[in-house]
Amino acid sequence: YRRLRVALLGAGAVGSQVADLLRKHGPELADRAGATLELVGIAVRDVDADRDVELPRELLTTDAEPLIVGSDIVIELMGGIEPARSYLLQAINSGADVVTANKALLATHGPEIFDAADQVGASVYYEAAAAGAIPIIRPLRDSLAGDRVQRIMGIVNGTTNYILDRMDSEGADFADVLADAQRLGYAEADPTADVEGFDAAQKAAILASLAFHTTVPLGAVHREGITAIDKAMMDAARHAGYVIKLLAVCERLTGETETGGDAISVRVYPALISRSHPLASVHGANNAVFVQAEAAGNLMFYGAGAGGVQTASAVLGDVVSAARRHIAGGVGVGESTRANLPIVEIGRVTTRY
Ligand code: NAP
Ligand code: HSE
Repeated sequence: YRRLRVALLGAGAVGSQVADLLRKHGPELADRAGATLELVGIAVRDVDADRDVELPRELLTTDAEPLIVGSDIVIELMGGIEPARSYLLQAINSGADVVTANKALLATHGPEIFDAADQVGASVYYEAAAAGAIPIIRPLRDSLAGDRVQRIMGIVNGTTNYILDRMDSEGADFADVLADAQRLGYAEADPTADVEGFDAAQKAAILASLAFHTTVPLGAVHREGITAIDKAMMDAARHAGYVIKLLAVCERLTGETETGGDAISVRVYPALISRSHPLASVHGANNAVFVQAEAAGNLMFYGAGAGGVQTASAVLGDVVSAARRHIAGGVGVGESTRANLPIVEIGRVTTRY
């Protein structure tokens, strides 16, 4: 097989598992990709930090740039905006295809990164940027490209679902369960992103952009988190036959503009879900995404929404795709964001499902 040089930026909850699986399943992945994936180095902040899995010391470095230049595939799993943004742009401009799970970056600088990739014929893969291990980016971008998505509704943040689920089932304390979610590798480096709904809003912006072939700026997403939810509210919801879940809703509003055209609305907020609703059965750090499309009807995607090894599955799927495309000398994967639909801020419409 031809050898492809793979650089990994970040070896935290997700990155350490990606490195481990790449090394453990190298020959199998090479057969699937049609190329040997050679992990040339792993950029971290502290080479001596404790890691979830043991990684060869000689692969770790604090100097990312030499790794990026000359790599065929760059995997960004550092999180945050900078230096992740600059490293991805540098990778693209050096001829690499890139893989990232960084929804904060894509929801804020996605157009800049996709444009840079388009200009040089590179591809940006980001299946892990929404709903962890669940395949949802490709279904929206590719499988449903011939349909008209009407609505996406779901639970897209594992940490908040884990917290609300344990508050509901055990009467657990918010702060204790959040600490568990951090220990288990579900939460963002700054968990405010999870509990205040920023992470879910970023994912909703990404999903809505794909589903409606437009660009949804993060600022256009109505966002509420779960920090105001307390034990008394959980108890009241339970007694009334409901459970509280943080929902993301992305909707096409047909004929809503002055000229009779379509608009869209994207919103994230805690809602009351009837105990008989399928979303009420989404426990722990799992996610579920319902997609309603004109021709396909109702589709449901369910599975692990957070967690290092689970998310590593989605990242490695992207790495195999990037390798296949790289050796085929293919063209970039277009984002098809030409619809330019107006976005309507309507906040909560209904909070009971
Ligand atoms: P994490 O545990 O905080 O790990 C971040 C890694 O990046 C660490 O290894 C850190 O190095 C390294 N890093 C951070 N800043 C750096 C810099 N300036 N230079 C070099 N290395 C740097 O994060 P994570 O949970 O693995 O998440 C990574 C990305 O995946 C994020 O974008 C996150 O939103 C996304 N994601 C996470 C999950 C999940 O379940 N955790 C699921 C889906 C998507 P040190 O180890 O030396 O500190
Ligand atoms: N912190 C995120 C979550 C990780 O809990 O859903 C997965 O994107």
